[in-house]
Amino acid sequence: MHLPNYKEAKKREKVEYQTLDYNLKKELKNKYCGKKYFLKTYGCQMNEHDSENIKAMLEELGFIEENDYRQADLLLLNTCSIRENAHNKAFGMLGRIQNLKEKNRNIVVGLCGCMAQEEGVVEKIQKKYKWLNFVIGTHNLYQLPQVVDSAITNRNQEIEVYSHNLDIVENAPVIRDKSYKAYVNIIYGCNKFCTYCIVPYTRGSERSRRKEDILKEIADLINDGYQEVTLLGQNVNAYGKDLYEDYGLGELLEDIAKMNIPRIRFVTSHPWDFTDKMIEKIGKYENIMPSIHLPVQSGSNTILKRMGRRYTKESYLELFDKLKNIRKEMAISTDIIVGFPGESEEDFQETLDLVEYCQYDNAFTFIYSPRENTPAANLSDDVSLNEKEKRLYRLNEMVNQYFLKNNKNQIGQVQKVLVEGKSLKNNNMYFGYTESNKLVNFTGANVEVGTIIEVKITDAKTWSLDGELYER
Ligand code: 5AD
Ligand code: SF4
Repeated sequence: MHLPNYKEAKKREKVEYQTLDYNLKKELKNKYCGKKYFLKTYGCQMNEHDSENIKAMLEELGFIEENDYRQADLLLLNTCSIRENAHNKAFGMLGRIQNLKEKNRNIVVGLCGCMAQEEGVVEKIQKKYKWLNFVIGTHNLYQLPQVVDSAITNRNQEIEVYSHNLDIVENAPVIRDKSYKAYVNIIYGCNKFCTYCIVPYTRGSERSRRKEDILKEIADLINDGYQEVTLLGQNVNAYGKDLYEDYGLGELLEDIAKMNIPRIRFVTSHPWDFTDKMIEKIGKYENIMPSIHLPVQSGSNTILKRMGRRYTKESYLELFDKLKNIRKEMAISTDIIVGFPGESEEDFQETLDLVEYCQYDNAFTFIYSPRENTPAANLSDDVSLNEKEKRLYRLNEMVNQYFLKNNKNQIGQVQKVLVEGKSLKNNNMYFGYTESNKLVNFTGANVEVGTIIEVKITDAKTWSLDGELYER
């Protein structure tokens, strides 16, 4: 048994890690042939991508996917810790599964993802969820086959969570959700320690994948006909700092852009280490998409300082302007937290002023949620929940207004769209995403999913565009 430990997880001395090849013990291959698994994923794109690996690892054991949790032999929740409501959802699901387990002792239930890395969660599981068969952390996910096997064989509660980054594992099996766009991890972990955020504890210190491993994965995706890759990391801008003297995200973007994949995206960028080199490369290659996620969190310097964000409103806006000037179609999205401890009406007003200036193309807005063991959880907070809800409402009203305004500006334009699907109701209706990542519903005929076509934009809503297939 290995239990999570926050003190250990906080340490950031230079960690030695190796890159290993994924290896499944021969005797486990197809051992559970015909058994069914149910996998539920919460949270961010990292978790979605981990789930693509989880599916493939389970299928190598012989399991087949089952979408109804009541019919499955193995149930696994890939969880998220970022806010309290993510916890509540996972515990709600565990409650439903508990009822099932009371009727059928043979089902095997596991929990993985960020919640598995939390001391408090694991203590609660050991006390109140003794029936849960296993917990596996984010650093050793590639040990899932062994952990599942021993949970089934030994019937003890297996808890395998490490507080430190183990090795980077290459060539883990993967079953991708889509055949035309793919996630590619480039860096794991986060060293920023924003005072509200639990991620540096649950995902560990920054560790970059070797560039040759990333480029090989992308070359294989191109060979398989993929049109789009999204480079993933908690903070992709830190790529390479732990591995190379002079090879960072700018150089990586350039190497990928030269491979001629039609679309390259990357998330998430911390404003603090967005270099001019990256900006230059984004401007140089048209297959780097004009869409950047640049979380601001707050427009007040007092709050930014208390959040430990390492930039000011002024330096954020300077970067914002530089990015906007790269290309006229550049779309910038953001994350904003309202009701951080001590946020005054004036601080909040500064956030609204910043939104008014930036006129974001998309924004994810949240009420601050205290996270166990993070520094902000100890700050005194005199703003009522009711006031926080009102601020969120006011903020949403404003951001929505700009989404609509930006979308309306697109009417009459012809946009390149990667087709993602067909309407179930109408045979001639399709949907896809523009280069600046806007959802378009459009009419057409004989359009193939996974291809890039042109669409003339005819109308705009707050969260989507309408259009028609454009044939020159
Ligand atoms: N409370 C509310 N929102 C949070 N985020 C991260 N931690 C918290 C928290 N404790 C938001 C930030 C981040 C996004 C992924 O989630 O805006 O950018
Ligand atoms: Fe959390 Fe800040 Fe790291 Fe983002 S950059 S994952 S908000 S600590």
